[in-house]
Amino acid sequence: MSVAEDVGAPSSTTDAVVAALDLRKVYDTSGQPVTALDGVHLEVPAGRFVAIMGASGSGKSTLLHVIGGLTPATSGVLRVEGHDLSAMSDRARTIFRRRRLGVVFQEYNLLPTLTARENIALPLLVDGRSLDACAARVDELLERVHLRARADHRPDALSGGEQQRVAIARALLNDPAIILADEPTGNLDSKQSAEIWALLRQIATERGKTILMVTHEAHGAAYADRVIVLKDGRVVGELEPKGSGDAALVATGYQELAG
Ligand SMILES: Nc1ncnc2c1ncn2[C@@H]1O[C@H](COP(=O)(O)OP(=O)(O)OP(=O)(O)O)[C@@H](O)[C@H]1O
Ligand SMILES: [Mg+2]
Repeated sequence: MSVAEDVGAPSSTTDAVVAALDLRKVYDTSGQPVTALDGVHLEVPAGRFVAIMGASGSGKSTLLHVIGGLTPATSGVLRVEGHDLSAMSDRARTIFRRRRLGVVFQEYNLLPTLTARENIALPLLVDGRSLDACAARVDELLERVHLRARADHRPDALSGGEQQRVAIARALLNDPAIILADEPTGNLDSKQSAEIWALLRQIATERGKTILMVTHEAHGAAYADRVIVLKDGRVVGELEPKGSGDAALVATGYQELAG
């Protein structure tokens, strides 16, 4: 069963892997509406690494959640790999998310009783596959995140940066097209953060994955091709470090746009 059979044919032929048009999200949890996204336009072609910056509350996590199909937009158009997520059934959206999107959070979300190897394989184990059946794939991922020597360690015997690399390997397990990362280095020191940013850069450049990463750090955003700056739920501008690592360019540009 292919993804296309399950979720329907793509409704758009645009090259953009993520295409948002006038995206709005209004939360109305306590009868007090909060506009978290206020008309966001965004087009991300395949294989690009895009950083999303903005002050606390500017809508960064909401944007990732909407793109990841975790919460519906209130209005606007969103296409991911040409599929209109809002037109999918809940089941189709869940399948699409599991097969095409990999998600990485600030808090690693590893199971403490499982080894690195088992944590990486977990989505397949949950699907009823045995660890032996996916051993080659897991070994390849351990290699890619430079953790071969730590494969049998549990999370409490790994550094924060190593735990995040396990989480990234797990996100890559299904060979998704898109990786969504919400402040993946929020709990890490500068050396470990730099390792994560370099790894994400490598995954975009060498593996052709499209990466959307929320970060507060100009150093991290400078690894990206493009930086999108959000303010009060709107895109107020973009910077183009083009993977140069030029943190000063990002820091200065960000201050001008968001300040
Ligand atoms: N589930 C929710 N219900 C109601 N309001 C919410 C909900 N989630 C977020 N918000 C509000 O939406 C706005 C945007 O929140 P969001 O979490 O997207 O910001 P953010 O840019 O990720 O901030 P941070 O840098 O602090 O993580 C905020 O005003 C927030 O209070
Ligand atoms: Mg957030």
